[in-house]
Amino acid sequence: MNERETDVLVVGTGIAGLSAALAADQAGADVTLATKAERPEQASTWWAQGGIAVTRDDPEQFKQDILDASAGTADPEAVEVLVENATDTVSDVLVETVGIEFDTNGEGYDFGREAAHDEPRILHINAETGKHIHVPFLNYVADETDVTVLEGTAALELIRHEGRVYGAILERDGEWAPTFAGSTILATGGIGALYPRSTNPDTATGDGIAMAALAGAEVDDMEYVQFHPTACHTDSGTFLVSEAVRGEGGLLRNGDGERFMPEYHEDAELAPRDVVARAVKTEREQTGEVTLDVSDIDFEAEFPDLAEKCAEHGVDWETGIPIAPAQHFLCGGISVDDRGRTTLDNLYAVGECSRTGVHGANRLASTSLLEGLVWGQRAGEDAVGNEIERIEPPELLERDPDLPGNFARDKFRRLRRVMDEMVGIERTPSGLKRSQSVLRRLKGEVDAYVRTRTSRSLYELRSASVVSLLISRAAAENEQSVGCHYLVDEETVESPAEQ
Ligand code: SIN
Repeated sequence: MNERETDVLVVGTGIAGLSAALAADQAGADVTLATKAERPEQASTWWAQGGIAVTRDDPEQFKQDILDASAGTADPEAVEVLVENATDTVSDVLVETVGIEFDTNGEGYDFGREAAHDEPRILHINAETGKHIHVPFLNYVADETDVTVLEGTAALELIRHEGRVYGAILERDGEWAPTFAGSTILATGGIGALYPRSTNPDTATGDGIAMAALAGAEVDDMEYVQFHPTACHTDSGTFLVSEAVRGEGGLLRNGDGERFMPEYHEDAELAPRDVVARAVKTEREQTGEVTLDVSDIDFEAEFPDLAEKCAEHGVDWETGIPIAPAQHFLCGGISVDDRGRTTLDNLYAVGECSRTGVHGANRLASTSLLEGLVWGQRAGEDAVGNEIERIEPPELLERDPDLPGNFARDKFRRLRRVMDEMVGIERTPSGLKRSQSVLRRLKGEVDAYVRTRTSRSLYELRSASVVSLLISRAAAENEQSVGCHYLVDEETVESPAEQ
């Protein structure tokens, strides 16, 4: 691994990282794009199903839908930036530049509808929108621009001094070296690996948030971890069943075969995501398996890729798809302004690792790709022009791959159990308090190893332990149930995760 210099270093190749890299390249910067992913499906963007929301006739209603879904906690100024730039950015970057063709019907775009949207406004490609955006976008940036793409390359530490970031230590194949950058843009995605059931790829270990927090950047809204209500968990893995299925008329039925959502919310299956996720959890506990009834939809014709996925996993959709909630998205993250600037100089954050204020306590469906695209572009443009300066980089210890036994695997397992049981869909004040003491201990054990050796898996574990603690601390400090942060009465049973 060679030492490098670059005008703009982008870490992460989901839609936000690609958008930032493209914008900085178009503005004339020398750009390096590093990703620990070796394959496209290791980026969360690849897994997005529903699509990307845009403005049609009524931008004010779109803004209102975002604010309503967030229970009034989203930042109106950030929502304004998102909605006012939505259609033009999707059109300029994805359609005109990358050449993505969204699904059409006889009358134009085939706008889909998802929960808590007042009208159909979602551009999609079947229910595999992420994959059909991610692959061509990545190829475009790699082949048609001057951006240097480094795959299989992780960022381990930021190079920082007194409130300014000078680049990052990058690692590939067990070797590392500093990359000095005028600006550094974190686009490292989410935190799915912190929970046992997630719709994210297992690369989502919260690396960017951990690096930024350890460097002293402000993070906010970490308690707002969104759970998607309809994931299908099978022995061969978990897969998302897009909200678009409910948008087309899919109905949720409890273990007694009864439709239950109308009792929980006037919008029934199309209620905000946090409401549906909690209802599904409750009904599963009280009546047994909850299923998504797709008998009123021409499922195979409308969702061919999902029908195929069901078949692959041995699920007979004709009798109803068994579903349960799964961790899906982090609404909070590294605090940024409307150009993706963090509280540290020359450090930006975009996409899921950032907290723009657009989502508040609960994200509206199909706004995450959009947020990544819009903020990626704005940050990429803003990041150009900062001078590259060299400082003494942090010294990492010599490589020693011999962690004892299954250290990382065992610690991850314990961490996930704590997050699932104490920092999940429903939380109790005492559970949150206990989670912090278990996670603090766990982080201490991980830190002790980080002080003696360097390996990517150890750094991922460090990221996960730092971010878990940030989430559980933020959740404990927020005494008000709102959106994805939902407090219930004290539990009395001691959790096995503490043992
Ligand atoms: C889905 O397709 O249900 C997910 C869409 C999203 O998370 O925005």
